[in-house]
Amino acid sequence: MPTKQTVLLVGGTGRTGGRVLQQLLDRGIAVRAIVRSGAKLPPGVAGNPNLTVVEASLLSLRDEELQQHLRGCDAVISCLGHVISLKGIFGSPRDLVTRATTRLCRGVEALQPPAPVKFILMSSVSVNRPSGLDTRRGAFERAFLWALCGVLPPAKDNQRAADFLQASVGPSHRFVEWAAVRPDSLLEGDVSDYELHEGLVSSLFAPDSTNMANVAHFMCELVTNPHTWAEWQGKLPVIINAAAAKR
Ligand SMILES: NC(=O)c1ccc[n+]([C@@H]2O[C@H](COP(=O)([O-])OP(=O)(O)OC[C@H]3O[C@@H](n4cnc5c(N)ncnc54)[C@H](OP(=O)(O)O)[C@@H]3O)[C@@H](O)[C@H]2O)c1
Repeated sequence: MPTKQTVLLVGGTGRTGGRVLQQLLDRGIAVRAIVRSGAKLPPGVAGNPNLTVVEASLLSLRDEELQQHLRGCDAVISCLGHVISLKGIFGSPRDLVTRATTRLCRGVEALQPPAPVKFILMSSVSVNRPSGLDTRRGAFERAFLWALCGVLPPAKDNQRAADFLQASVGPSHRFVEWAAVRPDSLLEGDVSDYELHEGLVSSLFAPDSTNMANVAHFMCELVTNPHTWAEWQGKLPVIINAAAAKR
């Protein structure tokens, strides 16, 4: 019998994170969820023997506390996002996703686990791969995105978190492997057929759509299916609903 996998989840009270939590538990995976308020977790998960809830502000945890929660985890999933309000977008912490990503990866590194831990980040199609690999953006779209990152802290934050994974963790870290999942416009709805692409598919001005349930499904596959992980680790897969694909 293989041993049960354990995932540390942050952002589990969010729209996508809640679905990730539910689907992980449905697959019998043990989950440690660090949340600001356990009362905001999805209904029905309370009391699940595979769920451990840590009520804490992630960025306020001391390094040793964070490492204690990371110890023994096979994977870490971050579905953090800036709350959509004036305070959430322009208030502190403007670098929520970058700081959380950095702290979680450095925490894993400090533990020196016997096998690399998977770090899975909820990113966005507004995030670019480096070195012009995402070639589908035109000059106007690039200028728009540049302005967006300047004006909206969350856009800049998502890009910097992905840049950290690519540049500072890199492709062959001894203790951390990673994938940054890039959904398009998020939708409600059940798990359905979806497509995965290495690069961007649509312009920001003609977006595709992605069910949050599909993001959750793909993240669970990354945790549980070694072939899926081998295909996408170190990459920034774009995920869109098959029904939304226009090609
Ligand atoms: N909206 C879209 O169409 C779209 C498309 C692609 C990608 N994305 C990206 O996807 C990500 C998640 O989106 P979502 O709609 O699922 O998120 P969401 O529902 O807004 O959830 C955000 C999560 O982050 C947590 N959080 C926010 N500020 C925090 C802080 N200071 N400290 C600790 N936790 C904090 C929230 O906790 P609380 O419950 O305690 O507030 C919540 O669990 C975002 O980064 C977004 O940029 C969005």
